[in-house]
Amino acid sequence: MKHFLDINKTDAAALRGMIDEGISMKSARNGRPKGAPDDDQPLAGRMVALIFEKPSTRTRVSFDVGVRQMGGETMILRGDEMQLGHGETIADTARVLSRYVDLIMIRTFEEQTLLEMAEYASVPVINGLTNRSHPCQIMTDIMTFEEHRGPIRGRKVVWSGDGNNVFNSFAHAAGQFGFDLTFTGPPPLDPEQVFLDEARSKGVNITIERDPAVAVQGADLVVTDTWVSMHDPVSARERRHNQLRGYQVNAALMAQAKPDALFMHCLPAHRDDEATSEVMDGPHSVIFDEAENRLHAQKAIMRWCLGV
Ligand code: CP
Ligand code: NVA
Repeated sequence: MKHFLDINKTDAAALRGMIDEGISMKSARNGRPKGAPDDDQPLAGRMVALIFEKPSTRTRVSFDVGVRQMGGETMILRGDEMQLGHGETIADTARVLSRYVDLIMIRTFEEQTLLEMAEYASVPVINGLTNRSHPCQIMTDIMTFEEHRGPIRGRKVVWSGDGNNVFNSFAHAAGQFGFDLTFTGPPPLDPEQVFLDEARSKGVNITIERDPAVAVQGADLVVTDTWVSMHDPVSARERRHNQLRGYQVNAALMAQAKPDALFMHCLPAHRDDEATSEVMDGPHSVIFDEAENRLHAQKAIMRWCLGV
């Protein structure tokens, strides 16, 4: 079963194939209207369940549109409206859904929910974000980097801010795609050591640097994300802001990176908190290409899962 659960759990050659396919499927659409079908219809007759236990704009819309462009159909399910939210086990839900649909994408809280869904489903399962990772986003980010700047292998990526789920998937990707990754943020918000160790074991440089201005020197890509994630308690907000204020990505920080460095943010952003509008809307920023590419990268991921 070809589940897409995490970048570190997927074969590196398969990942490379998905990025290349995403780029080629994007160019094959050649500017046609968003609702127009692709020339080939690899998902014709396929039904895809999109399960959301957390809010979403990009993931929800990009998966839905992507399936339709490839000729398939979708159903969007909110966790709290399913029996899942009323005590039915994940395992039973997985077995039942597998009788109706050909592919399941789930956005959830605990990683364990995703893993259990994958264990008991007899159709492929895609991770649409958990508290610990966001692999579809980082596949998209790699596609976006390579579209603008060529191969990411050997490049330097700097993450400024919270060591969260999106960072973790960057660490997985560093090992699989062969780029160096620097984390800059305050010690209480360091990523879990396991993500750093695993990437290091694959031979890439993974660094923690407390001074953001030092961290971004020589960066090809600077990335940040919200200071308070969906799984974080709202009560953490004020403390997080105090801890992270010095790690804001602003024009002064970007000026320390390479002159042609890119800026990325998976969005949604809190403008002028983790990144200034000047940077988000400035010459380094590719945030809206990044958002668009969710569509193309995920189409390639779905094709790989289904082998079509
Ligand atoms: N980047 C991302 O996953 O956005 P949504 O939460 O809107 O899906
Ligand atoms: N780290 C963020 C990413 C949102 C797409 C969160 O988990 O809320």
